[in-house]
Amino acid sequence: MILPQHTLADSHIVVVGGGSGIGRAVAGAASTLGARVTIAGRTAAKLEAAASQMEGAVAAAPVDMTDEGAVAVWAAALGPVDHLVISASSAAHGPFGVLETGKVRAMFDAKFFGPYVTARAVLPRIAKGGSITFFSGVLSRRPGLNCSGLGAVNGAVEALTRALSLELGPDIRVNCVSPGMVRSEAYAHLAPEMRDQMYRSTGDSLPLRRVGEVGEIAEAVLFLMTGTYTSGVVLDIDGGHMVRQYATR
Ligand SMILES: NC(=O)c1ccc[n+]([C@@H]2O[C@H](COP(=O)([O-])OP(=O)(O)OC[C@H]3O[C@@H](n4cnc5c(N)ncnc54)[C@H](OP(=O)(O)O)[C@@H]3O)[C@@H](O)[C@H]2O)c1
Repeated sequence: MILPQHTLADSHIVVVGGGSGIGRAVAGAASTLGARVTIAGRTAAKLEAAASQMEGAVAAAPVDMTDEGAVAVWAAALGPVDHLVISASSAAHGPFGVLETGKVRAMFDAKFFGPYVTARAVLPRIAKGGSITFFSGVLSRRPGLNCSGLGAVNGAVEALTRALSLELGPDIRVNCVSPGMVRSEAYAHLAPEMRDQMYRSTGDSLPLRRVGEVGEIAEAVLFLMTGTYTSGVVLDIDGGHMVRQYATR
């Protein structure tokens, strides 16, 4: 049971990555529940379009998480924060021997160091009883071909989650959502047929026989924000990906 004092009404929730995909679903759900929401990402127009489609009080505050100086200025303007959610990231795929090191470093900048510096910059503003939610992904523990760097960065985010849970408790809870494959703008660069084929083949390998929807991941984030006895958790929301059938080469 969610006690009234632990609902999101009147909370300030900051969603970095809130302009699309899972982050937008989290922001939309939280604003529907009466939270004041700030969404962030690099593209102001995308944020403003997303904010205009949400009900309630949603503000757009652009920032590039890989620019530590810009993140400090951005964080200083946020005011008090109750919950910080960081779904923003970018990914690099390719065979280990071929994918350029620079692309893997850029991915660590976006998916590990971005959330790291963002959490550190917002931390002084997070109220007692608040939370931070990071995002990893199933590849940390169920590797995929051509995804070695992405698996490694997910593992780093999960390790950071556990360490910060210990260090920032009891005042602030720190958790991580590890999604399986979810239909989102993250795959917008793929040709539609290739994307559908990827969704189908991944879905077929899962106990639930389908990939996820962004709203299903957002539900988990709402739980982690309001769950007063959850910290240090890596929550798999993945259609059963952890027990999936082995991929074929
Ligand atoms: N979708 C999946 O199948 C899946 C599977 C496993 C894990 N995940 C993880 O779940 C999280 C959310 O994924 P998603 O599908 O919602 O992705 P998405 O739709 O691509 O959203 C990512 C958002 O992050 C923003 N962003 C990217 N780089 C940024 C930066 N440097 N600074 C600030 N904002 C930045 C992007 O906006 P701008 O480009 O405008 O900045 C975008 O709105 C990610 O951590 C992802 O790795 C997703």
